[in-house]
Amino acid sequence: MLRNTDTRWGSVAQAFHWVIAALIVVQGAIGLTMMELGMTPTKVKVFALHKSIGLTVLALVLLRLAWRLVQRAPREVRMPAWQRAAARLSHFLLYVLILAVPFSGWLFNSAANAPLEWFGAVHVPSLTRGFDPVLKAFALRAHVVLFWILVALVVIHVAAALWHHYRQRDDVLLRMLPARRKRNLFRRQGVLP
Ligand code: HEM
Ligand code: HEM
Repeated sequence: MLRNTDTRWGSVAQAFHWVIAALIVVQGAIGLTMMELGMTPTKVKVFALHKSIGLTVLALVLLRLAWRLVQRAPREVRMPAWQRAAARLSHFLLYVLILAVPFSGWLFNSAANAPLEWFGAVHVPSLTRGFDPVLKAFALRAHVVLFWILVALVVIHVAAALWHHYRQRDDVLLRMLPARRKRNLFRRQGVLP
């Protein structure tokens, strides 16, 4: 099912969720390791890769938000009001952060007057009018601080998902995962119709 239903996230919403989550993990790993590289041609290539994947994340998050807004989310699973409020707030903040982290990277790159080519193929415009040292320092700080806030929130988010699954034994995690076809051995062997 492509669209969300009353009880499950559709496959489009699921694909957005898991692809973006995976890319953010990759981005965090590249971002942190590339800072350790010496001034080599590899560093330039890895920086370019980080920026291209980051811009891809930004585009995917915008598409994901559009998809999210044109249809209804599944009905909320039954839980105490404070948990529902915490889930809503944390999901909202996650959306803000997955937009703000790549955006601040783009802003930093623009204020540093560094070139920006999406996978070497598409020229991406600058967000500033040339070099801006104050904005550059601010955007870099924002990029790093917001990244670590995102990491903290994702840790809580994952812990909550696992808690729902293993402790509460509810459908919160399952409905964000592809539905497993119930294979009935007897039916496959023709014992049952
Ligand atoms: C999901 C998206 C992104 C994540 C999770 C991410 C994460 C990171 C991390 C963890 C660092 C290392 C920070 C440090 O330890 O100092 C970093 C650095 C950097 N990021 Fe990103 N980033 C993302 C998107 C982008 C985008 C879209 C751009 C530019 C278009 C960008 C440009 C940079 C640059 C230029 C640096 C190096 C900063 C320096 O020279 O000190 N990032 N990023
Ligand atoms: C960088 C990593 C991740 C980010 C940025 C992220 C972000 C989000 C966001 C924004 C939502 C709200 C969806 C909406 O209302 O449209 C969501 C839902 C969800 N996430 Fe994640 N997520 C990440 C990783 C994970 C992981 C690793 C798990 C599981 C272990 C997970 C489990 C879930 C579940 C179960 C939901 C659905 C909650 C519900 O139905 O109310 N997420 N995620």
